[in-house]
Amino acid sequence: MNAVEPHGSDSPGGTNDEWTLRFRTLKPDEVPAPILDELSGKSTTPDPVAPELVWRNELGGQTWRLGDRYLKWSPHAADIDLGREMERLRWLEGRHPAPRVLSSGNDSGGQWMLTAALDADTAVSDFWRAHPKQAVRAIAEGLRRLHALPVTEVPSHWESWVSRTPPELGPRPSVDHPVLVHGDACSPNTLVDADGRFAANVDVGDLAVGDRWADLAVGAMSLEWNYGPGWDGLFYEVYGVEPDPARVVYYRALWGSES
Ligand SMILES: Nc1ncnc2c1ncn2[C@@H]1O[C@H](COP(=O)(O)OP(=O)(O)OP(=O)(O)O)[C@@H](O)[C@H]1O
Ligand SMILES: [Mg+2]
Repeated sequence: MNAVEPHGSDSPGGTNDEWTLRFRTLKPDEVPAPILDELSGKSTTPDPVAPELVWRNELGGQTWRLGDRYLKWSPHAADIDLGREMERLRWLEGRHPAPRVLSSGNDSGGQWMLTAALDADTAVSDFWRAHPKQAVRAIAEGLRRLHALPVTEVPSHWESWVSRTPPELGPRPSVDHPVLVHGDACSPNTLVDADGRFAANVDVGDLAVGDRWADLAVGAMSLEWNYGPGWDGLFYEVYGVEPDPARVVYYRALWGSES
């Protein structure tokens, strides 16, 4: 099989060199088994389509588009439990826009889940990075909607980095407003529809109840990586909050040490 080139040139941050390294050409032995099956015609899909690599994460995980489905694959070495994300995606159904889980599997190399493709693009696509105003508004709108869900309905066993209190960070600010926190509110995890509106959130494995500033602090920081400086004012305005410098500092540090 030929090596697979990634699609697009979206960068969630870091230098171009880091990005090239992360999205380097895949060697055949790095391609997940379900994708190899698809490529070799072994798939049970009625109308096989050419798999398209759309994303690689820092831990070696990959996301592929297979026509109207997305396959998210995580190597066992990454120590990520996609079961966490599937549980949260199922809970979100009917509550908040997010991918619908179709199936899942695992083998000696890794685990994967298949979701239905949403008709929307990541907020860091080439197009949306050239139209940052709409992208930033959509990201803020998505968080506002997620944070408006009733926390009393959230399963009590959901936890994530947002509730940790490493002693080296000093005392945690009191929780400003408990919400269902996304847990990785970076720009690529918002999808935007063709009209420039919020379409859905992805990457929800760390959903848990916590301080809304856990998302706002990380979300505002990530805007600068993807769109350049100066977008946090619009982000806070659309969300409907005044900046809270102490909580921003705390949750950026917590995200850096625990997520
Ligand atoms: N069902 C879907 N419909 C449309 N796009 C999707 C879908 N699932 C995933 N994507 C796209 O794939 C990208 C990667 O998905 P996701 O964020 O879940 O992967 P990840 O490896 O956990 O990301 P990260 O690098 O943030 O850890 C998303 O930004 C989105 O553009
Ligand atoms: Mg992501």
